[in-house]
Amino acid sequence: MKILTIIGARPQFIKAAAVSHAFTGQAGIKEVLLHTGQHFDNNMSEVFFAELGIPKPIYNLGIGGGLHGAMTGAQLAGIEGILLQEQPDWVLVYGDTNSTLAGALAAVKLHIPVAHVEAGLRSFNRRMPEEINRVVTDHISTALFAPTATAMLHLANEGIPGQQCHQVGDVMFDAALLFGERAKQSSLILKQLGISAGNYVLTTIHRAENTDDLQRLRVILTALGQVAQTFPVVWPVHPRTRKLLEQPELRALLGSQVKLIDPVGYLDMVMLEQSAAVIATDSGGVQKEAFFYSIPCVTLRDETEWVELVDAGWNTLVSPDNAEKVSATVINAIGGKGLSVTPYGDGQAGEKIMNILFGV
Ligand code: UD1
Ligand code: UDP
Repeated sequence: MKILTIIGARPQFIKAAAVSHAFTGQAGIKEVLLHTGQHFDNNMSEVFFAELGIPKPIYNLGIGGGLHGAMTGAQLAGIEGILLQEQPDWVLVYGDTNSTLAGALAAVKLHIPVAHVEAGLRSFNRRMPEEINRVVTDHISTALFAPTATAMLHLANEGIPGQQCHQVGDVMFDAALLFGERAKQSSLILKQLGISAGNYVLTTIHRAENTDDLQRLRVILTALGQVAQTFPVVWPVHPRTRKLLEQPELRALLGSQVKLIDPVGYLDMVMLEQSAAVIATDSGGVQKEAFFYSIPCVTLRDETEWVELVDAGWNTLVSPDNAEKVSATVINAIGGKGLSVTPYGDGQAGEKIMNILFGV
C-alpha cells in the first residue's frame, strides 16, 4: 500500500513524525512525503526533520507565502501533478492549514481516498482560515481520524457517516510521549537563555485573528510587556509575528523586558513548555502540550477547538481586548492545576491510524 503524506507547516511535521514512526518498518507500507513548502525557514521546517527522524520528503513544492487563494491554488496544481505520477492508494493530510486543504482537494478530484488526521475539530468561527480548511477537508475525506470524543460528535452532527470516523486519540500526545523525555536529556535551552525552571512565562502568538488585527495585537503586546515587569517572559517569535514586530510602534508596546527569540526546534520547545510557570498562547498545539506537561495555559483567543481543557480547568480563555485583563489572567494562572482527565487517548494514535488504513 502506498500512502502519500502531505505536509507543509510546522505542526504538521510534528504530527507526521508520530505517524511516520508507526509506519516505519511495517511490511507492505510505503510512505512518500510531499512538503508543500508552506513553511520554509530552517527553524520552521528543516530542524524538525533533522531532530525527529522524519523521512526526507521526496517532493518539496516550495510554495509558501502570499494570499490564501494564490498559495492554496499553486499547491493544488503542484500536488495534482505529483499524485498523477505517484498514484498512491491513500493521501494522508494533517490538521487545518492551506496545505491540508490543497492536498485533500487534489486527491479527491482524482478519486484517491483521503485520510484526515485531526478531523472533527471546530471553532465554529468561519472567519478563521483554519475553520474553512478543516470543514471542507472533513467533508471530502474517506477516513476521518478524530482526536477526541467532542470531535467525533461534531462529525456526527454534520452528517458524516459514522463508519468513516475513528476516534484514535491525538497524534500530538504520541509525539509528546515519544520525544518528551529526550527533550529533558538533550535540550540546553534553559541554560542558553539564562532562565530557570518554574520561573518564567512562555508565550507564542501567530494566529491571523491576533496578528492581522492590529488592535488585538496591540493589546497582546502591551499585556506581555506588563507581565514582563514582574516575571520573565520568553517568546519564540513566529515569522508572521516577527514581520509585525519590525514596526517600531508595535515593538515599543512590548517594552524591553520580554525575551524575544527565534523559533526553536521541537525538543527545545518541549523543554521550554515543561519548565514554564504558565504558557500564554494562541497556538492549537501548544495549548495541548501545556496540558501534557501539567502546565497551566492561558489561550489568547475568543474560542478554542480544544474545549475539554477549558472544561477541566487546565486552560483559561481570555479575549485580547483589554491589556490589564490579559496580563492579570496570565499572572493569576500561575500555580493553577486542572482536573485529572485523559481526553487525548493512550499515545498510540499513530499505530491505530496505520491499522485502520491497512485494514480498510
Ligand atoms: C499557518 C497555518 C496555521 C498554523 C500555522 C502554524 C494556514 C492558513 N495557516 O499559519 O493554521 O497554525 O501555519 O505555524 O495554513 N513565513 C516565513 N517563513 C516561514 C514560514 C512562514 O517567512 O518559514 C511567513 C510567510 O511567508 C507568510 C507568513 O509567515 O508571510 C505566514 O505564513 P503562512 O504559512 O501563510 O501562515 P501561518 O501564520 O504560518
Ligand atoms: N513549536 C516549536 N517551536 C517553536 C514554537 C512551536 O517546535 O518555536 C511547536 C510546538 O511545540 C507545537 C507546534 O510547534 O508542537 C505548534 O505549532 P504552531 O503553534 O506553529 O501551530 P498550531 O498548532 O497553532 O497550528
